[in-house]
Amino acid sequence: MRGRHFELDAAVYSTGNIFSRLDMKNTITTSSRGLLILVASLLAACSDIDQNRGVNNPSLNGQTLVAQVCSNCHGLTGESVSPEFPKLNGQQRAYLVSQLTDFKGHLRSDAQGTAYMWGFTNLTPEQIDQLADYFSAQLPMRRPAASTLSLNRGELIFKSGLPDLGVAPCSACHGALGEGNAALPRLAGQHTSYIAAQILVFQHSDARPRGEAMKQVTHLLSQDDSTAVARYIASLGASQQ
Ligand code: HEC
Ligand code: HEC
Repeated sequence: MRGRHFELDAAVYSTGNIFSRLDMKNTITTSSRGLLILVASLLAACSDIDQNRGVNNPSLNGQTLVAQVCSNCHGLTGESVSPEFPKLNGQQRAYLVSQLTDFKGHLRSDAQGTAYMWGFTNLTPEQIDQLADYFSAQLPMRRPAASTLSLNRGELIFKSGLPDLGVAPCSACHGALGEGNAALPRLAGQHTSYIAAQILVFQHSDARPRGEAMKQVTHLLSQDDSTAVARYIASLGASQQ
């Protein structure tokens, strides 16, 4: 069995099998929950082994790549269950193209992106277009069941910003409902922890090459306010059933 898993992994991630990629991840982040989910989903996918499987096969169309590869982490529609993996459903098409292009070129280089998304170096521009078509056409990200935590502070920051700290209202760029527009990503309904993690990336690194505006906006945003606004953003959008 173990040999078969290696075959599957080598086929899916032929730039380095998943075990060595996960080792690499472990040196970068202390989280192992994603590893367990990932291994479990790869084991579940094991019965479908197909020789043509793989992200380095230019003849596979976007939808096949989603089913065979992306869905293991992001879910079949992009509504990922684990907060380790960003939701992609209803994300802006142009934004999806830019991020996939940046991962492919190893330009988006935060720790999680490097560990999980750098293997996709051989996606063709056509495949990237098809992947972006697919995920942008899915029903948008759903907010989780209502929480009892107050959303007032986050709502204030989202709609009015914090002028004294140079924090522009998020809604000014991301839309009144956080729906995004072209290169401006949809935020509504995204996982709270992913949003907060990206704010940290923008604040403390240059790991996201298109992040200059976000760097300026969030430069003086405190950790508490970042969490507050992330929680408010996650509460936007249609509800889960
Ligand atoms: C092994 C798990 C895994 C697989 C498989 C995977 N991803 Fe990801 N993906 C991630 C993680 C983790 C992130 C978040 C990276 C970060 O924090 O920078 C991510 C980020 C992304 C982003 C950026 C989202 C955003 O909001 O900026 C896009 C787009 C994306 N993935 C698309 C895909 C596509 C398309 C595929 C299939 C070709 C795929 N991913 C396969 C784990 C995965
Ligand atoms: C001046 C315009 C502008 C404002 C104001 C702005 N953003 Fe952004 N934001 C952007 C752009 C542009 C990107 C895409 C950067 C990229 O492509 O890497 C982005 C990306 C993001 C991302 C990453 C999304 C993802 O899926 O990875 C998050 C999270 C985010 N913004 C949160 C916020 C929050 C919270 C606020 C308010 C405090 C805010 N933004 C205000 C322009 C803005």
